[in-house]
Amino acid sequence: MIVTIVKDKYEGGKKAFELIKKGVADGAKVLGLATGSTPITLYDQMVESDVDFTNITSINLDEYYGLDPQNSQSYHYFMKKHLFEKKPFYKTYIPNGKAKDINQEIADYDKIISDNPIDIQILGIGGNGHIAFNEPGTPFDSTTHEVTLASSTIKANSRFFDNQDDVPKRAICMGIKSIMSAKQIILMAYGAAKQDAVKAMVEGPVTETVPASVLQKHPNVVVIVDCDAAAKL
Ligand code: GLP
Repeated sequence: MIVTIVKDKYEGGKKAFELIKKGVADGAKVLGLATGSTPITLYDQMVESDVDFTNITSINLDEYYGLDPQNSQSYHYFMKKHLFEKKPFYKTYIPNGKAKDINQEIADYDKIISDNPIDIQILGIGGNGHIAFNEPGTPFDSTTHEVTLASSTIKANSRFFDNQDDVPKRAICMGIKSIMSAKQIILMAYGAAKQDAVKAMVEGPVTETVPASVLQKHPNVVVIVDCDAAAKL
């Protein structure tokens, strides 16, 4: 695990973008993408760049269950707004939060992941150490699954909603095993609220209680953190 400390999220976005640019130049064809406020500066760099993504497939980590893709709180909407409507990709995949048959959707998503092995996976981290919506206690051998969000996650994500009751309680999420199958992983974390999670991920024991700690077992991980998030390292 390589830990790179940057001044702020803008420098972090540039560092992450340099890795993606190199990966694409070296032949990467599939990017695993994340939502949340953290990857926005990276997506801004991708949008502003002259890198061509029209041969690249993207696979997103997760989606709230119950939200329509047109809903402005959905991760479909987020990805469109921050990246896809400005930078065309070959194909983009995000779990369907309105799928009638959730088990079928989960099986289909696992097939998409196995048919399109992820070259570079982008991650943020939750304050409780979650990656995507893999909350503490999620088995390391999990594949795509339905999750019940931790109350701390609902609270943290309520800042994007009118009130906490509007935050969906469930999601469809790529599993930890699938995330770990990516050839390279870039995890970004900014701000003091991520200090404890970053310390546990980098220096703590590898335990399902801290999902991100599994990354210590991956051979090619770059962690990009600002000074506040790195303060306890
Ligand atoms: C959500 C997402 C995660 C993200 C996390 C942190 O729970 N499912 O993928 O890493 O929030 O969000 P933020 O980057 O806004 O701090």
